[in-house]
Amino acid sequence: MTQDELKALVGRAAIDHVVPGSVVGVGTGSTVNCFIDELAKIKDRIAGAVSSSLKSTERLQALGIPVLDSNSVERLPVYIDGADEIDRAGCMIKGGGAALTREKIVADIAERFVCIADASKLVDTLGRFPLPVEVIPMASSQIARKFEAMGGNPSLRNGVITDNGNLILDVHGLAITDPAALEAEINQWPGVVTCGIFARNKAAVCLLGTADGVRTLA
Ligand code: 5RP
Repeated sequence: MTQDELKALVGRAAIDHVVPGSVVGVGTGSTVNCFIDELAKIKDRIAGAVSSSLKSTERLQALGIPVLDSNSVERLPVYIDGADEIDRAGCMIKGGGAALTREKIVADIAERFVCIADASKLVDTLGRFPLPVEVIPMASSQIARKFEAMGGNPSLRNGVITDNGNLILDVHGLAITDPAALEAEINQWPGVVTCGIFARNKAAVCLLGTADGVRTLA
């Protein structure tokens, strides 16, 4: 199966995790796009979606799925999103699509994070994928120096402005052996909006697309 077929497979499988009648938290990316397409088929059975990016909002609305403001919703039973890397404990690197901050906000409102990913995303240790960090523009050089001091190699993502008007630093060369500790440390640096480690609020379950079908990691 191709990577696209695996993404379509887990996008379909995620529908089983949607709670009928509820508002669904929706992530961002090519795997989530497959999920949104499936969600459109059952749109009469859900109350709408809270979206993590302008791109996902556009796709949801184009398919006739109502998008609610995150501030109007107190609780989401489930948030469904992809990942750039996921380890066996459910910790993830996210932000390849630059939507990490809104993704973390919607995930925080949700009771369960269901990650959908093709098998190439499963790793033993996070960090092969460069870590995305959303930063306030005036702090980008200072934050880059802090990453260099810990052995990382940061670069500004060319031409990218996030939905929140900020920049993305991609940090290569970090071996993330304690994801929750590193997430906490980076998040308290002045000017960091969000770091792309999702360990303090990690995936409760991962639907992994493999050549043998969907493997559920919980
Ligand atoms: C966007 C993300 C995506 O979930 C991540 O980049 C995975 O994307 P894809 O499903 O296209 O591989 O974090 O900010």
